[in-house]
Amino acid sequence: MGITRFFITPQLPEVGAGDLAVVTGATSGIGEATVRLLVSEGFRVVGTTRKPGGVDKRLPGVTYVGLDLGNPASIEACAAEILAMGTPAVLVNNAGESQSGPFEELPRDALERLFQVNVIGHVDLTQRLLPAMRAAGRGRVVMVGSMLGSFPLGFRSSYVASKAAVKGFATAARRETAPFGIGFSTLEPGAISTGLSARRTTYVDEAGPYAAEFARMLAKLNRNEASGISAERVAREILRPIRATRPKPHYAVGSMAPVAFALARVVPQQITLNVISAKHDL
Ligand SMILES: NC(=O)c1ccc[n+]([C@@H]2O[C@H](COP(=O)([O-])OP(=O)(O)OC[C@H]3O[C@@H](n4cnc5c(N)ncnc54)[C@H](OP(=O)(O)O)[C@@H]3O)[C@@H](O)[C@H]2O)c1
Repeated sequence: MGITRFFITPQLPEVGAGDLAVVTGATSGIGEATVRLLVSEGFRVVGTTRKPGGVDKRLPGVTYVGLDLGNPASIEACAAEILAMGTPAVLVNNAGESQSGPFEELPRDALERLFQVNVIGHVDLTQRLLPAMRAAGRGRVVMVGSMLGSFPLGFRSSYVASKAAVKGFATAARRETAPFGIGFSTLEPGAISTGLSARRTTYVDEAGPYAAEFARMLAKLNRNEASGISAERVAREILRPIRATRPKPHYAVGSMAPVAFALARVVPQQITLNVISAKHDL
């Protein structure tokens, strides 16, 4: 292979129509748009939700299964239910909690739940599905991170860290699974208009020293989300590593991602951090 091995993205077997695709967090926002797109592409689609019996908008072609990423027993049961339907060719780890609060005031139990839901839960689910995917010799795993994982923002430290963590897992695991035909990629969305703002968990002492700045940041964050790009646009980006025979390690969409990542490579990190703060009224 020689010197060329340093330049080549591994080539993987195709996945496509008729294959089983699993999307976590499939009942709203990015997950809902992704299952819709995968159905239209001919995949057999499994979407997860914490309340499989209570899904308001059941999409044709999607089988809904229960998954609470905060509960290890639920993850084990979900993986077994999926494997009973077949071997997934695609796994989109999308579900997530959006947590905010001053670093100093984040409660330990909230941190543990966030890392269980956003990080360990997805690692656990993926580990349970990987042996079958490896035996089949092909597959794509897409982690839905966040541009905040690459561009840290004050008062979002726990969320930033959880999204940086899933990117770390995916980017490192890539080399391990490539010889078995399985690609790992991370997709980092910027501000996306999904209504996520209404579902954020926040931890702040309203009478504390950070309250005023936190409130200003959160108000701007919510305005940015409301004016963000659509979940459908993100779903199309998620399809790229699924469709590619040479999926890249990293994809990003929204919040002028191409410009942001290009600039971050050439300007001092403090300038990048200042720009991110300013974009959030800090
Ligand atoms: N919107 C944005 O601006 C933005 C930006 C960057 C990254 N992201 C990331 O994109 C992903 C999707 O976000 P979204 O905006 O589409 O959010 P959303 O509309 O709130 O959807 C989140 C999904 O996650 C599921 N979920 C939440 N907690 C869960 C748990 N404990 N166990 C299992 N499933 C759980 C929910 O399903 P049920 O309620 O049905 O269980 C829901 O379908 C998240 O990972 C988020 O961090 C979003």
